[in-house]
Formats: sequence, structure tokens, C-alpha cells
Amino acid sequence: MEHFEGRVAVITGGASGIGLGMARAFAGAGMKLVIGDLDDLALAAVDDELTRAGAKVVTRRCDVSQLSDIEALADQAVDTFGGVHVLCNNAGIGIPTPTHKLKLDDWKWIIDVDLWGPIYGVHVFLPLIEEQGEGHINATSSMAGLIAGNMMGAYNVAKHGVVALMATLERDLRGRNSPITASVLCPGPINTNISRHSVAFRPSQTKPKEDGATTGRVASNIQAILDKGMDPDEVGRMVLEAIGSDRFWILTHPRWTKAIQNMLDAMNEDQTLPQA
Ligand SMILES: NC(=O)c1ccc[n+]([C@@H]2O[C@H](COP(=O)([O-])OP(=O)(O)OC[C@H]3O[C@@H](n4cnc5c(N)ncnc54)[C@H](O)[C@@H]3O)[C@@H](O)[C@H]2O)c1
Repeated sequence: MEHFEGRVAVITGGASGIGLGMARAFAGAGMKLVIGDLDDLALAAVDDELTRAGAKVVTRRCDVSQLSDIEALADQAVDTFGGVHVLCNNAGIGIPTPTHKLKLDDWKWIIDVDLWGPIYGVHVFLPLIEEQGEGHINATSSMAGLIAGNMMGAYNVAKHGVVALMATLERDLRGRNSPITASVLCPGPINTNISRHSVAFRPSQTKPKEDGATTGRVASNIQAILDKGMDPDEVGRMVLEAIGSDRFWILTHPRWTKAIQNMLDAMNEDQTLPQA
């Protein structure tokens, strides 16, 4: 996609972290913004910040795991700005739990948000974006979408699904010479509050009584790693740059792909699963 000025971008989970970084970068490039998120207070803060900075922005409470919420977000974008050019399926959560302890309700919650959210996004927004004759669909996966590490079963499954969704979309778009392009963001550690938010957003019926302390402690350990991670505003600028240059893969820590190479090597050699 060549031009950003005056184009309309929809960002889910855009009220904090990486999504907010995208919103700031896109606003800086002159785009109009539609931001959907579950967090009303954070939505009000981002609305205030970007409006003061001179951006045209509309925010809306939206749970990406609900098709009706995604449809309402699309209606809001069309009603406010007349159309959509860019969609970033970014909202996400994750709770570290070993497979033998992961409850079915948590599997469902995480896959509903992290995978069905982007599926609903593509389903609802692709026809709208194609109407514009130019545009782009991005989704935030993770390095967990390329390498399945321990403790993150549902998150790994969802994020692998997001990579597959976006790779298939990009191939299908190229197959019919669509002017729309697609990309997938696979971040390494980014300095956001995702672990704290995920613990807070976990549906009450899935909050475990007996292993809650353990889950909280593991989430705190992960959060401590993320606190030293890349600045999410830098990720936002990377996404803008990648959309402008029609790149499919957006990797914040490209050297981590060594782990993928190790896995491919092992497939060719002794068919073991190397350490992630
Ligand atoms: N932070 C990292 O290190 C990292 C690494 C790899 C991938 N990611 C991915 O980046 C994306 C953004 O995460 P982040 O790190 O910026 O975290 P974050 O918690 O700062 O931002 C996520 C946003 O999504 C919102 N959200 C959560 N559930 C939602 C729902 N059901 N519907 C709508 N909004 C919802 C939250 O309110 C929050 O504003 C996620 O998809 C995450 O999996 C993050």
C-alpha cells in the first residue's frame, strides 16, 4: 500500500501496548483511526491522546471473540469515515499453563479471542477493504505462532492458526490479483502489560481456585521478561513500514528464527523436537 494520508485503519486491542503503538504510528502518517478494545478506560485515554495530537479517531468497546462486536466495529468505521483501508487484528491474551492443567474453558477463551477474533476480522472486513480498491490486512501472531514452546498450549495453537490464516489469505489474494495485501506480525518480547491484562480479563468461571497462585506467579515471571522487551511504539512503526512496503513477515526479533531453522534441521536429520 503506497499512501497512508486520509486512509482509514481499524485496530483491535488498540488501547494499549502494540496496538497503541500502531495507532500512534498510523496517526502520525495521517490515517484516520477506528480503535476497538475491551478496556473502556484505556479507550478513553487513547481517544483523548490521539485527538489532542490532531488525529481523527473513533473508539468503540469491542470483544473480538464476538462476531456481532466485529460487525458493529465495521459499521462504526463505515458510518464515521465512509470505509476501511487497513485492518490490524491485534487484540490478544494468553495465560501460561502446562497442558495437563489447562482447563477446557481456558482453551476455548484463548482460541476464541486469539484465533476466532482474527478470523471474524478477515471475514467481516475483507469485502469492505476490497471495495476501496486498495488496502491491507495485518494480524498479530507471535514467535509462538512459529515455534511452540512449553506452558502456552492454547496460545501456541491460536497463534500458529493466525500465521496459517494470514499466509493463506495472502496467497489467495495474490492468486486472484487482488490489490489488497496481507501481513503477519510475529513479535518476540515487547514491553507491554499483556500478562497482567490477561490475568485481569480471564473469565471468572475459568479462574482456578487451587492453581491460581501458580498461574499468577508464572505470569509475573513472563511479565518480568516482557518489561525488558522492545518498546511497543517501535513495533507500531515497523508495522507501518511493512504495510508501506508490502512485506508479509514482520519479525521484531528476526534472529529468533534460528530456532525454526533448528527444528527444520532436526526434521531432516533425526526427527527429534529440539528445545524451543
Ligand atoms: N507483548 C509481547 O511480548 C507479545 C509478543 C508476541 C505477541 N504479542 C501479541 O500482541 C498482541 C497485543 O498484545 P500486547 O502485548 O500489546 O498486550 P496489551 O495487553 O498491552 O494489549 C492487548 C489489548 O487487547 C485488548 N483485549 C484483550 N482481550 C480483548 C478482546 N477479547 N477484545 C478486544 N480487545 C481485547 C486489551 O484490553 C489490550 O488493550 C496480542 O495479540 C499478543 O498476543 C505480544
